Amino acid sequence: MANIVVVGTQWGDEGKGKIVDLLTEKSDLIIRFQGGNNAGHTLVVGDKKVVLHLIPSGILHPGKVCVIGSGVVLDPEILLDEIGALQTKGYDVSPDTLAISDRAHVIMPYHRIIDSARDSTQGLGTTGRGIGPAYEDKARRVGIRMIDLVNEGVLRKKLDAVLEEKQEYITKILRLKPIDRDSLLERSARMGSALKPFVKDASLLLDASMKSGKHLLFEGAQGANLDMDFGTYPYVTSSNTVAGHACVGSGIGPTTIDTVLGICKAYTTRVGGGPLPTELTDETGERLRAFGGEYGATTGRPRRCGWLDLVALRHSVRLSTISYLAITKLDVLSGFETIRVATAYRTGSGIMEHMPANLEMHTDLEPVYEELPGWEEPLSDIKSFAELPGNCRRYIGYIEDRLAVKAAIVSVGPKREETIVLKNLFA
Ligand code: IMP
Repeated sequence: MANIVVVGTQWGDEGKGKIVDLLTEKSDLIIRFQGGNNAGHTLVVGDKKVVLHLIPSGILHPGKVCVIGSGVVLDPEILLDEIGALQTKGYDVSPDTLAISDRAHVIMPYHRIIDSARDSTQGLGTTGRGIGPAYEDKARRVGIRMIDLVNEGVLRKKLDAVLEEKQEYITKILRLKPIDRDSLLERSARMGSALKPFVKDASLLLDASMKSGKHLLFEGAQGANLDMDFGTYPYVTSSNTVAGHACVGSGIGPTTIDTVLGICKAYTTRVGGGPLPTELTDETGERLRAFGGEYGATTGRPRRCGWLDLVALRHSVRLSTISYLAITKLDVLSGFETIRVATAYRTGSGIMEHMPANLEMHTDLEPVYEELPGWEEPLSDIKSFAELPGNCRRYIGYIEDRLAVKAAIVSVGPKREETIVLKNLFA
C-alpha cells in the first residue's frame, strides 16, 4: 500500500498538478482535501490543455476515482461547469469516478459577493471566489454543507436562518444590492439535485478502499506558506495547506500516510499581497515571469517572482515532514549565468534561518544569498539525471543538501514526458 500526500512547499503554483497527474497512473483514488476553486491546475495532455479548479486531475485517467473531501469548500456552479466541460471533452465523470463528501461546505453566491467586495479594502489579493467567507461560516456553524444542498427542505431552512444577516451585511456594510432569496433557493436546489448522485460519505469510501489495498493520492492546493496557521498571516488562504490536513480534510487517520512529496519550484513565485522576501522587481524577475509563464491559472494575475528561498522551504519541510521533493520548472533557469538562493534573512536583530511569526519583521529583512553557477543548455529534451548539465545537477544537489531531503522527481517542462523520475514512490 502507498498512500501519498502531495503538497506545495512555497506560496502555491509550484506545479503540483503535473506531478499529481504523473503519480495518478499508479494510484487508485485521488483526493482533494482543502481549499476550493481558488486553486487551478493547468495540465498538458498531448496537445490538449486542461485547466481544473476543483476536480482532481485524476479524472483525466480512466479507471480512477476522484474524491472531493470534507475539508474542501465547493462552489456547485463551478463544479457543474467543470463536470460539463470534462464530459464534453469525452472524459468519464460519473458517480463511479467522482465522489463528493456529504460534509464538504458549499460556497454560496453571497460568499463570492462578500469576498470580492471585502478584499478591495483588505488588500489580501484573494482570488475573490468566496473561499474565506465560506470557511468563516463553517467555523461559525452557519455553513451549508453538501448534505444540505441536496435536500431542498433542509436547504430552505438553513438558507432562511442565515440569509437575513447576509442581506444586512451586503446592503448596509458593503452597500450592494440584496440577494433575491427565491431565485437563490431555486437555483441552489436545482444544482443540489444535479450533484446528488455524487454525494456520499467520503471517509467511509476511503476507509473501505484502504482496507481493500487501494493506493490513495492526496492532492494539496496552494502551498505551506499560505497555510492559515503557519503561513505569512494574514496574507494566507483560509485553510490549512500542510500535509497534516490531508487527514482532517478527508476523514482518515495520520498513520495511514506513507509518504509526503513536497513540490518545490526551482525559484519562487507568489500571487496576491504579503511578504515575498526574495522578490525581484527588476528585469530578472520579469524574465522568470516570461520564461516561466507565471500568470495565475485561476485569475490570470501576473505572479510575483524571485529566487529560491530556503528559509520558506525549511519551514515547509518541517511542517509537513516532507519525505521527498519534486523540483519543478528547472528548465526556466536555463540561460542564467548565476543563480541566487536565499539561505537566511538578515534583520535588525540578527540572522534568521526560520520564518518569523511576526509579520512586522518582514518589512526590514533582507535575504542572505549564496550564488551558484548557472547553465546555458535548454533542458526540455533531457530524459535522465545524468544528461542534465553539471551545474543543474549541482543546483539540485545543493537544494537536497540544504534541506536534507532527496529529490524524487525533477520536472524540465510542462508536458508529462518532460519529467525525470529519480525514485519510485510506490516501491
Ligand atoms: P483566497 O484563497 O482566495 O482567500 O486568497 C488568499 C491568498 O491566497 C491570496 O494571496 C491568493 O492569491 C492566494 N492563493 C489562493 N489560492 C492560490 C493558488 O492556488 N495559488 C497561489 N496563490 C493562491
